[in-house]
Amino acid sequence: MTFNNLIYHLDQGVTTITINRPDKLNALNYDTVMDLNAAITAAQKDVTCKVIIITGSGEKAFVAGADIKEFSEYSMAQARGLAQRGHSELCDLIEQSTKPVIAAVNGFCLGGGLELAMSCHIRVASENAKMALPEVSLGVIPGYGGTQRLPQLIGKGRAFEMIMTGGMVDAQKALAMGLVNHVVEQESLMPLCHSIAEKMMGNSSLAIASAIKAINANYQDGVNGYQVEIDAFSECFNTNDFKEGTSAFINKRKANFPGN
Ligand code: COA
Repeated sequence: MTFNNLIYHLDQGVTTITINRPDKLNALNYDTVMDLNAAITAAQKDVTCKVIIITGSGEKAFVAGADIKEFSEYSMAQARGLAQRGHSELCDLIEQSTKPVIAAVNGFCLGGGLELAMSCHIRVASENAKMALPEVSLGVIPGYGGTQRLPQLIGKGRAFEMIMTGGMVDAQKALAMGLVNHVVEQESLMPLCHSIAEKMMGNSSLAIASAIKAINANYQDGVNGYQVEIDAFSECFNTNDFKEGTSAFINKRKANFPGN
């Protein structure tokens, strides 16, 4: 599958999507957001894909934000469209993916780049990663869900500080705050993401999809997450994956999940 602004690579159940505008530090312009939308949608539909990894090309940046040059002349109506697209076509799509999405944060992860990473289920960073929501330094606020997902991940007080100062946090600080799950040397970044993906792929993909749905329910207005969990839990009992998982345990063998 080919795209102008990203590289799409599926190998042994893992789809790696590499945002590929290194000369612009992988900034998200309109075309890149739409390519990401198409790539993530394709990975969702591909039954051979079990886990998605999103990263940036080059060694300097994951994504240095939304493309500032592109939006600098936008009207209010265009700005609304930009934010709406960032939510529905990109970040919500990733967050609600039925397949786990891992952000491999390999450098600058700023503005819309951090918002993209925060919509992924898991973030793994290289030592050189730097994260910030610097929008207020441009006279604007985060518009791809950053004001909502950052407090969810690191707490309200720290989110207020990061957003109001616009200051960058390094990988170790991001780890201490719970903004990323792991920090490794740059050369170990993709191997660690693949080893996490490998562990996930040994489990029931149906159960993982249900777990994603139940966890996300906690953050949806008007949705009772506990009830979603009860429903999703009971639905698992009607799957062949459940029969296989429990019978493998009882018979002391490794489960081989059929995925239905
Ligand atoms: N939008 C558009 N272009 C961007 C960009 C963005 N968010 N971030 C970087 N670029 C472009 C630069 O304009 C430059 O392009 P040019 O060579 O055509 O001038 C290229 O990427 C390299 O960036 P540069 O600023 O020269 O690299 P640097 O190492 O000096 O600085 C950063 C790196 C990340 C500190 C700096 O690029 C930066 O502050 N970027 C904007 C971050 C931001 O505010 N993001 C939030 C947007 S909402």
